[in-house]
Amino acid sequence: MSGKCVLGIDVGTSGCKILAVDESGKILGSAVEEYPCYAPREGWSEQDPGDWWNGVAKGLRKIMPSLAGKTVGAMGFSGQMHGMVALDADRNVVRRAILWNDQRTEKQCAEITEAAGGRDALLGITNNRMLTGYTGGKILWMKENEPENYAKTRYILNPKDYIRYRLCGEIATDVSDASGTGLYNVKERKWASGLMRKIGLDPGLFPKAVESTEAVGRVTREAAAQTGIPEGTVVAGGGGDAVISTTGLGLIKPGRVGVTLGTSGVVAMGLASFLPNPDGKLQVFCGNAPGTYNAMGVTLSAAGSYQWFRNALGDYEAARAKTEGVSAFRLLDDEASKVPPCSDGLVFLPYLTGERAPLNDPNAKGAFLGITARHGKGHFARAVLEGVAFSLKQVYDLIMSVNPGASSDEIVLAGGGANSPVWRRIFADTFGLPVRTVYGSAEGGSFGAALAAGVTAGIWPNLEATVPLIRPESRTEPVGANVPSYAAQYRKYVKFYDALKWSFSD
Ligand code: XUL
Repeated sequence: MSGKCVLGIDVGTSGCKILAVDESGKILGSAVEEYPCYAPREGWSEQDPGDWWNGVAKGLRKIMPSLAGKTVGAMGFSGQMHGMVALDADRNVVRRAILWNDQRTEKQCAEITEAAGGRDALLGITNNRMLTGYTGGKILWMKENEPENYAKTRYILNPKDYIRYRLCGEIATDVSDASGTGLYNVKERKWASGLMRKIGLDPGLFPKAVESTEAVGRVTREAAAQTGIPEGTVVAGGGGDAVISTTGLGLIKPGRVGVTLGTSGVVAMGLASFLPNPDGKLQVFCGNAPGTYNAMGVTLSAAGSYQWFRNALGDYEAARAKTEGVSAFRLLDDEASKVPPCSDGLVFLPYLTGERAPLNDPNAKGAFLGITARHGKGHFARAVLEGVAFSLKQVYDLIMSVNPGASSDEIVLAGGGANSPVWRRIFADTFGLPVRTVYGSAEGGSFGAALAAGVTAGIWPNLEATVPLIRPESRTEPVGANVPSYAAQYRKYVKFYDALKWSFSD
């Protein structure tokens, strides 16, 4: 083997993934490392940036031997968005990172919106609402609740940016992750410094924001010793996972819609030009190619709901998975497959960590509804898969209503959840559309990160040139008879939230 390869590092929530891709766009191999997530209080969600670094360093050491003979042209990033990493003047981590699915900042988000002059004025500056998951509210929360930590803080980074700092010593972010702070002027691709001053934050806390394919620095000697990556390897800008996953699906051309099933679920499409975000119902962020944008909506607990189900109720499958060397999720899938579509009337609401689009309700809670004596474990497993599909259908309907340019002849499904044939079928029947997977679609953001790094390394001239590499793979057609049943179950699902809303706050 000789020639170049590129690495895509995804700093996810359940773990990190390192993916190696060669000059023809072929995936050479991957390494995954898991790390813990802490919930010190209900609605709080934190991780230790040191765990991310240890995971990434271990993953890089694992993958290096499989690249023998190839030069690493560049390494790129995908990362869980919106997380707050605070560093002090010596660049040490001040406190655990507060994550995208943390819901503690309702008060601070209201304060920021008011300081901006109300929701419309805020949309005029950032093109996005200040949602509880976004970084802006978290910084203000730290200022109000942990003044000693705030006083020490000199730099605010998003998760993947901390890993970049550990690799090359540069403090930077990219335009897609900057958008997800809620303090960025997305239209003009610059920090909203005036808004920061109005809410009492020093604009100097925020790093420079580069384009995703830009080179930012080179691997230091110290990082080389810890990871096995040669000193001097180019480190690129990368992007927020929800955005760069879309790029990895070839959806940088406007029109087609992709659904990514990671811990969160994202319905997204690429935009060739800026899209105003009326009422701020969607997230409209900078895209990974210069001058492009991305419109999306997020379900907070997608594959995260299935992971919860496995952890809470899947001990039997987890034990079998260990002895048989298979995935506990596939064993649960087998049970779900034996149950008829629509789970004999059982409905699951996946609001385990509140909900973002389209409800925007940090207090929303999960629920199983319609339980009868005939329901067994397979019904509950299937209802979880269906509830997540309904939630993403609601986001999809919203995207279609806001976006005149969107077309809907098929759904591209991606992320770890796209590996499940039964889930793909449920999506096809719920959306009433063919569900397509494409090369690399199960890799989530790491594939997009590698492709963007390939542009940095000069393997491809731009991201558009990577689109032909993303060949179609499986296609799941909707089953005619199931579509109306799912449409009826979906209508029920939508009404359940309205009926239960009163019980969610307190
Ligand atoms: C995107 C979002 C999630 C996280 C999960 O807005 O909040 O997709 O990035 O990794």
